[in-house]
Amino acid sequence: MYMLSKRNDSLTSEVNRSFYDDVMWGLRRSEKCLPSKYFYDAQGDVLFQKIMRCPEYYLTRCEEEILREQTADVAACFALKEPINIVELGAGDGSKTFHLLQFLTSSSNYVTYHPIDISSHILNHLEEDLKEKLPRLQVKSYHGDYFEGLAAIQQQTDLPKVVLFLGANIGNMSKVDATQFCSRMRSFLNKGDKVLVGFDLVKNPRIIQAAYDDEAGLTWQFNTNLLTRMNRELDANFNEELFEHYCHYDPISGTCSSYLVSLLEHRVVFPEDEIHFGKGELIHMEVSQKYLQAEIDEMATETGFLPIDSFADKRGWFVDVLWEAQ
Ligand SMILES: C[S@@+](CC[C@H](N)C(=O)[O-])C[C@H]1O[C@@H](n2cnc3c(N)ncnc32)[C@H](O)[C@@H]1O
Repeated sequence: MYMLSKRNDSLTSEVNRSFYDDVMWGLRRSEKCLPSKYFYDAQGDVLFQKIMRCPEYYLTRCEEEILREQTADVAACFALKEPINIVELGAGDGSKTFHLLQFLTSSSNYVTYHPIDISSHILNHLEEDLKEKLPRLQVKSYHGDYFEGLAAIQQQTDLPKVVLFLGANIGNMSKVDATQFCSRMRSFLNKGDKVLVGFDLVKNPRIIQAAYDDEAGLTWQFNTNLLTRMNRELDANFNEELFEHYCHYDPISGTCSSYLVSLLEHRVVFPEDEIHFGKGELIHMEVSQKYLQAEIDEMATETGFLPIDSFADKRGWFVDVLWEAQ
């Protein structure tokens, strides 16, 4: 009896209830999946920062090179007049955005940066870091979902803005979902507003496969951290050691899919449900979609944007594209 009432307590907050409902929606399906937006608790943030630095994960280094070495060219395309408003969806630790913010604040006293992130932990870290390194920058953070944040910012200011969506976050959606996402993003913008979006490009499949299957096992830790989070916040009883990481890149579709594989038949108990796992059964954890430049340009025009410019790293593995809202 005590166990039951204690267990149900974990779902009394609205936040845990929607977390619980979202994961149950995925785990009750015949092809199990988990929503990737729950990866980022405090530990998930730390693990993702480690992934960004690991030798196989080229994406961060490519985009960092673009924003460090082509800062002036990218900023020139923003064509912003003061006061400058930069919004970032899923800002994370902002380590790459820093180059742009540093450049903009070196020439203007009126730059406001609006980072939006679902992780309060990473937002606090980002605010502290920017306060120390760029004291002249105004930072107005929004803790929550991308579009809740965009809606709130659109209400606060009607001034021209640039929206950043970096790190190939857009790749964590299917092509159809990414197209819907861009249309929805457009609906929160005024004509002439700009967006800078980071896309990972199609390349040698071995390079892509290795990026999501690192030697040190950080991707396993990152994925199983979501099971640990469900144990802590939802009173589940996952044994992380019963799951192995597997990823598969399909060079024809350009889709890299990550899974956790159940190593044994077993049951996981939640406060109001039990989930059965067969031996070898998969949980789909994340998709990382790779693009051709032509597909990116097509996505822009289909969703109400005009492609203005495209900034690639020296190897041509990654692009940050600049689009203008039409
Ligand atoms: C892959 S990381 C990339 C971070 C950063 N953009 C970069 O390039 O380094 C994704 C970030 O988006 C945030 N995020 C994921 N889903 C989100 C959502 N639905 N709404 C707001 N933030 C989200 C995560 O907390 C995380 O900080």
